Amino acid sequence: TTDPHGCPVSSGAEAFDPFDSAYQADPAEVLRWSRDDEPVFFSPKLGYWVVTRYDDVKAVFRDNTVFSPANALEKITPSSSEAESILKKYNYGMARTLVNEDEPAHLERRRALMFSFAPEELLHHEPMVRRLTREYVNRFVNEGKADLVNEMLWEIPLTVALHFLGVPEEDMGTLREYSIAHTVNTWGRPTPEQQLKVADSVGKFWNYAGKVLEKMRDDPSGHGWMKYAIRRQKELPEVITDSYLHSMMMAGIVAAHETTAHATANALRLLLENRSTWDRICQDASLIPQAVEECLRHSGSIVAWRRVALEDTEVGGVKIPKGGKLLIANASANHDERYFEDPDSIDIFRDNASEHLSFGYGSHQCLGKNLARMEMCIFLEELTKRLPHMRLSDNQDFKYLPNIAFRGPENLFVEWDVSLNPEKTAP
Ligand code: HEM
Repeated sequence: TTDPHGCPVSSGAEAFDPFDSAYQADPAEVLRWSRDDEPVFFSPKLGYWVVTRYDDVKAVFRDNTVFSPANALEKITPSSSEAESILKKYNYGMARTLVNEDEPAHLERRRALMFSFAPEELLHHEPMVRRLTREYVNRFVNEGKADLVNEMLWEIPLTVALHFLGVPEEDMGTLREYSIAHTVNTWGRPTPEQQLKVADSVGKFWNYAGKVLEKMRDDPSGHGWMKYAIRRQKELPEVITDSYLHSMMMAGIVAAHETTAHATANALRLLLENRSTWDRICQDASLIPQAVEECLRHSGSIVAWRRVALEDTEVGGVKIPKGGKLLIANASANHDERYFEDPDSIDIFRDNASEHLSFGYGSHQCLGKNLARMEMCIFLEELTKRLPHMRLSDNQDFKYLPNIAFRGPENLFVEWDVSLNPEKTAP
């Protein structure tokens, strides 16, 4: 097999398959050969140039004029025509949002909508996150075991996402199904039969997003990113169009929900596998923010993101032709020993942990990063306080939804001795 320049590809490049279970389980480890020997390679299976070293990944994120994010939400598995007609039936019309918009439109929009992410605005959401976390922990604290993903980490970030957007809390179950469908539709490898089901859910998600948007237009007062955007639309109708608002509603839920749920599940697994670190944060909660940052570096929830080259260019000395698509492996960059010392181990005192690329970098860097950090800190504060003695259940298989971008276990089983619950021993 050859790359687009006609050069033969290496055996590592030939074998690379991001849908493979070994890659899903540990993408940074599977890409170690690339970081060492061939840091930018063409994957014939994917049709993408894969970038794996820290400096190169950062350079691609940084240059948003040569490397456009226009393909960030492109379907990695093209839809069948039947799936397309199902989407058409729902008038599915996902437009570019922020994450995949080029300049100058992107920056204009980002500036117009940043206000909701300011620290003072995020403070409005904090009591709700705390309350929800306590309520969810109450449900299982005396059970002695839990699947933290299904009993807490999936639903709270979804509820927080809805609150953040200003959406009413109803239809949580349905929304959950919808957003998984969106992930599979965009980043996954659905079979032809799955494609039809997924298209139906994505279509319904789109319609639902439209209905909620209409409801919000009746009274767009109060906190909430969508409400703010609806108000801004009056002043800036060309920047914040109707089609943008509808797309933002759907994309916003996905951006805020699964990313945070997965990142917390990854963090808890990592901390419980590194017991001395877990014990340390149980003893001293002031270390939680730095633990969160190190967990985001070590086991972030977005393992790779995409760009497309708008001109002939070069990354790490490798020529990329105009139109070349890039898979930028931020999980691999975060484990690059050229940048992070002893990158595979977890060290909450690492001085450059916050330079990880799990939130991307540059002009598109995650707008919600401080909301995500706040949620993750609160989850850890409540769990270390109330269940410091919990441990991972033995013999569990960590399963991942096969896709190229999001990574988090489908379940996280933990257990503990209820008689040792701090609220029993020291009420
Ligand atoms: C963009 C990761 C949580 C909203 C992004 C990008 C990444 C990312 C990798 C693309 C960055 C780039 O292209 O340079 C994450 C992770 C999260 C998280 C790992 C959780 C741990 C959230 C939350 C929100 C959010 C809670 C809240 C709404 C956004 C938005 C963008 C974005 C609006 C687009 C920014 C732009 O293009 O200007 N995120 N995200 N994210 N994220 Fe997040």
